[in-house]
Amino acid sequence: ASALQGSFSWESPSNIALVKYWGKKENQIPANASISFTLSDCKTITTLTYKAKSDSGILFDLLFEGEVKEEFKPKIQKFFERIMPYCPYINYFHFTIDTRNTFPHSSGIASSASGMAALAVNIMSLEKLFVPEMTEKYFDQKASFLARLGSGSACRSISGSVVVWGSHPEIEGSSDLYGVSFPCEVHEKFKNYKDVILLVDKGEKKVSSTAGHDLMHNHPFAKERFVQAEKNLSAMAAILKEGDLEGFIQLVESEALTLHAMMMTSIPYFILMKPNTLKIIEKIWGFREQTKIPVCFTLDAGANVHVLFPEEEVDFVMTFIRQELAVFCDNEQYIEDKLGFGS
Ligand code: PMV
Repeated sequence: ASALQGSFSWESPSNIALVKYWGKKENQIPANASISFTLSDCKTITTLTYKAKSDSGILFDLLFEGEVKEEFKPKIQKFFERIMPYCPYINYFHFTIDTRNTFPHSSGIASSASGMAALAVNIMSLEKLFVPEMTEKYFDQKASFLARLGSGSACRSISGSVVVWGSHPEIEGSSDLYGVSFPCEVHEKFKNYKDVILLVDKGEKKVSSTAGHDLMHNHPFAKERFVQAEKNLSAMAAILKEGDLEGFIQLVESEALTLHAMMMTSIPYFILMKPNTLKIIEKIWGFREQTKIPVCFTLDAGANVHVLFPEEEVDFVMTFIRQELAVFCDNEQYIEDKLGFGS
């Protein structure tokens, strides 16, 4: 067994939630179900090299863009500790994790979802060596389960193109433990949907999402929010099936603002939007009013704005972004992305 060595390589995309996950219980169990679009080009590429060792204990080296990165190690150490009960074999390997992102470093795009997903699928490739008869379904589910233990939203980056995470009465097969592909046919209006990410602020987040989730305990509006999210997921499921673009716009924007409203009304309260975030939102509303083009925005836990629109509007919307929105971005930077298919 000591000769056992080799490597795997996986790419995992980022994802953007339409109905947001904000608030969690013990063991990375979400307080409400969420639904997301899997992205395509914003991804993490991770090579895992493994070499059998006789002594037990977690042992790994980490390379980020080819260089040793000590400051990222604690998060990965914690990930390995959390998955240990489910993957005890990791004790018997020395790992080298070589990882890079396709999006610019510290662009304000969270790489935890794509990064943890890429690591989780690599671990599952290792497990598959010992269990070659493993089904694809088991592989994907357990990869998502492990990714969740690294970062909640990472469990939505294993499959595509629309993923639900969190047990929901109307979504067949949904679970708090892993993400599943939306089980219904999505209307063709949403096929190849675009997401252009406007990089408003590339700085580090001032409040980590872990701290943010914690503030939903004892939050004055938490209970109502979790009820609302469940209703919104039902509504979103219908919207996606029917191709209701107007309903989509209203629900997606409302969810984005509600996420930030939760941040603004917790104790301590905080604001992650920047003045340029609001300027972009106003511009999008003005453009939509004027042109009737079904373009909308969503936000993550940060100041960047995701601009969502159907593929057929790409020429008009990209001209609008270049001419009117890019000036509000850091260095006029934005990233063009679209719906993708997972790891
Ligand atoms: O996966 P975490 O713990 O970093 O939480 C991220 C939560 C949001 O991105 C703000 C919303 C979501 O559902 O992705």
